[in-house]
Amino acid sequence: MIRHAVREDLEEILNIERELYDNPWGYENFLHELENRFTKFYVYEEDGIKGYLIYWDIYNNATGANELEVLNIAVKKDFQSKGIGRKLMTHMLKNTPKPFVCFLDVRVDNLPAINLYKSLGFTITGKRKNFYGTNKDAYTMKLNYEVEYAKV
Ligand SMILES: CC(C)(COP(=O)(O)OP(=O)(O)OC[C@H]1O[C@@H](n2cnc3c(N)ncnc32)[C@H](O)[C@@H]1OP(=O)(O)O)[C@@H](O)C(=O)NCCC(=O)NCCS
Repeated sequence: MIRHAVREDLEEILNIERELYDNPWGYENFLHELENRFTKFYVYEEDGIKGYLIYWDIYNNATGANELEVLNIAVKKDFQSKGIGRKLMTHMLKNTPKPFVCFLDVRVDNLPAINLYKSLGFTITGKRKNFYGTNKDAYTMKLNYEVEYAKV
């Protein structure tokens, strides 16, 4: 099941984060997002927490659209490639009122993540050199769901 994260989840979330990333977020990073009114923070729970998705959801008065920015999505190693990442992303996309636009960054060599985003309709819009450290470039990706920028 997918539900909102609470402070008591952070220990489990930190264990997943440390298992997956060279430069993992710390407790304070997660706590900050848990308390940020623009942040949506979900966990996927099935016999414990198996994944999480954190994103900003900010309404833009000029376009009349919600702007989403994915900050972190992760699935526990032993449970990857079983559909959990897709469920978390789909939950975000389905529960955001339209129109909206969603942005994210992803390492250029992170094929599982790039494949997931492309399959949901995201396209690559740019490249950020050394974004994640030396020789670790990022693609910027975007999914535009009926946002008319001409209105701005
Ligand atoms: C990226 C990540 C969140 C995807 O979650 P997941 O639960 O493993 O992915 P899913 O099982 O939902 O798969 C969704 C799609 O991703 C792609 N994908 C998943 N695993 C893949 C793999 N090993 N190789 C290539 N593509 C893969 C496929 O397109 C898949 O769709 P399909 O099953 O219909 O073919 C997860 O692998 C993860 O936590 N990775 C480490 C952290 C990370 O890189 N986060 C993203 C930072 S931008």
